[in-house]
Amino acid sequence: MLEKLASALPKAELHLHLEGTLEPEMVFALAKKHNVRLRFPSAAALREAYQFQDLQSFLDLYYEGAGVLRDEEDFHQLTLAYMDRVARDGVCHVEPFFDPQTHTGRGVAMREVVEGVVGGLREGEKKHGISWRLIPCFLRHLSEEEARKTWRDLIPFQKYFSAVGLDSSEKGNPPGKFSGVFAEVRAAGLCGVAHAGEEGPASSIREALEKLQAVRIDHGVRCVEDPDLVRELAKKRIPLTTCPLSNVRLCVYEKMSDHPLKKLLDAGVNATANSDDPPFFGGYLLDNWLSCLRELSLEKHHLVQLAKNSFEGSFLPEKEKAKWMEKVDQVAASCV
Ligand code: ADE
Ligand code: ZN
Repeated sequence: MLEKLASALPKAELHLHLEGTLEPEMVFALAKKHNVRLRFPSAAALREAYQFQDLQSFLDLYYEGAGVLRDEEDFHQLTLAYMDRVARDGVCHVEPFFDPQTHTGRGVAMREVVEGVVGGLREGEKKHGISWRLIPCFLRHLSEEEARKTWRDLIPFQKYFSAVGLDSSEKGNPPGKFSGVFAEVRAAGLCGVAHAGEEGPASSIREALEKLQAVRIDHGVRCVEDPDLVRELAKKRIPLTTCPLSNVRLCVYEKMSDHPLKKLLDAGVNATANSDDPPFFGGYLLDNWLSCLRELSLEKHHLVQLAKNSFEGSFLPEKEKAKWMEKVDQVAASCV
């Protein structure tokens, strides 16, 4: 019964990397289109390789797979496939990330990447009524100088973006490394969000809040190691975009029943459940919700709160947020 409610509730996805939605079959189709040689014999063999010890072992395969994305049409197709897929999960609003440097570093023009992604989002919106905001991320394993250059290349497309993010290898690359470029981003009128507290400690969440003035923390699960921080996050309603299946597949937690999502919700934190990189981690948005529902024994009020948090934590205008909250209450009332 609660499974039905999880599916029926309107939901927003706030933590999703478009490159991380590349299904192995699409990797092979695009490799054929562009005459790229892959080191795996088949899509099934590639999928079998999706077994990770930590974040870095995943990122190595993720960047390798992204190498088949070469032109605007590829980015459009990738993005539309994601919109088509999540329409089935009751997702009404999405705020995906993309990693411009992964592509510009291979000689793909920024315009092809951005126009392709925006084209896919617009077609998905028309087809399914899913609204969207878009967030380019800086790769934190690269230098701040490279992030500054990327920001200059992004400026002509600024109207498409609601924020700028920070992702990739957290260990050894603390948020403070990028405080200068995030100040530039804020001066241009965009806010920052940042991956923090995934593999890094709770102190990196504080650092993202203080040095980047991040308005939303991606993952953030390791805040539970600092009870004062949990209280502060709850008081300020700072959104945490957790990704439960990702955390288990990347060995942040040994098993789903160890995941702190329920504790965070009970502590009044604005936590959401998202998919991160679905084919790599075994599930899209609803799979994440259902896995938490079963393994954490979530109750009806947790599901309703997760749905409301996803809209509250979004970059939608207040009026739109209020409309979705009301809709969540309506669906919850009709599903006993
Ligand atoms: N890029 C794609 N997925 C990521 C994750 N979970 N953490 C950091 N960078 C990422
Ligand atoms: Zn992520």
